[in-house]
Amino acid sequence: MEQTYVMEYKAPSEVKDINVVNTHELEMMAGDIIPHGGFDYISGGSGDEYTLKQNVDCFNHKRILPRVLADVENPETEMSILGHNIKAPFIMAPIAAHGLAHQSKEAGTARGVSEFGTIMSISAYSGAKFEEIEKGLNGSPRWFQLYMSKDDEINKMIVDEAKADGATAIILTADATIAGNREKDIRNKFVYPFGMPIVSRYLTGAGEKMSLNNIYAQSKQKISPRDVEFLSDYSDLPIFVKGIQSAEDALLAIGAGAAGIWVSNHGGRQLDGAPGSFDTLEEIAKAVQGRVPIVFDSGIRRGEHIFKALASGADVVAIGRPVLYGLAIGGYKGVKSVFDYFEKDLKRVMQLAGTQTVEDIKQTKLYDK
Ligand code: GLV
Repeated sequence: MEQTYVMEYKAPSEVKDINVVNTHELEMMAGDIIPHGGFDYISGGSGDEYTLKQNVDCFNHKRILPRVLADVENPETEMSILGHNIKAPFIMAPIAAHGLAHQSKEAGTARGVSEFGTIMSISAYSGAKFEEIEKGLNGSPRWFQLYMSKDDEINKMIVDEAKADGATAIILTADATIAGNREKDIRNKFVYPFGMPIVSRYLTGAGEKMSLNNIYAQSKQKISPRDVEFLSDYSDLPIFVKGIQSAEDALLAIGAGAAGIWVSNHGGRQLDGAPGSFDTLEEIAKAVQGRVPIVFDSGIRRGEHIFKALASGADVVAIGRPVLYGLAIGGYKGVKSVFDYFEKDLKRVMQLAGTQTVEDIKQTKLYDK
């Protein structure tokens, strides 16, 4: 039987600052207010959720040495990436369907991101149109994340629109040619309660009342270095290849013209049994050798995680679920509260680890005995 909650899906709408103690509590608070199917979709992983758990646990495979005579005070988190100055070494990760978390949809997230002062990643599976998201972004920098259509003419149209909207980079998500085994969504018979205007031109059904499986099935499955070349040549924008978990794929991507590597296992939502994303980072960074920037995501929940990722080769990290929980609890103000939390937490770690700047973090050797 077709599920019934779709017609009644009512996302939270409150707008308020949040006192974030930690992101685990934030998740529990969000779980109390996001409708059940939407919360399971956002928070869930695939299969046994082994990889989902590893994404956080594996940060403990390396430790941070306290430094005490480092002559540090008021650490500075500002940095720049691809010409954008950002307030801290983290950006918004691309996530589908923010309207599951809050009625303001992606515009709410965009406003929080913009008020904090970092980069918004706009997902091809946004529930809002570019113009609506711009109302929140208000001219702030944005990168556009693409799930490719099987039809390159449609890919060109979508890239044209993203460029016209002001995207300064394209993030090609290459790890989601079919959906991971999302058992919670299967159990809930989860379908998106609203459409996806950006990709609606290549979906029969426009996203609304469609399952993720159905949507991915209509997207491109055979993705190869030729697609990276195609997007890079056509768009003339830097292309990040997202979903990289091996040195081999990183080298293939760079060989095809990728201007950035995005280390991610899609938040443990795709191949269960994959290692925690952080466990793959150092080897990839060694292969990349600083030729292009590395963005890291999957599992960032604390300042310590940001610090460890930067010390292991990432240039910047992307934060996903915790921001959506902030959106659910407090709209754009909640989003800003979550970014403020990460900034404060990272500064505390930087002080205790004796690092004044983001560059100092990158030079830090983690303790792995
Ligand atoms: C969509 O990108 C998802 O991972 O659910």
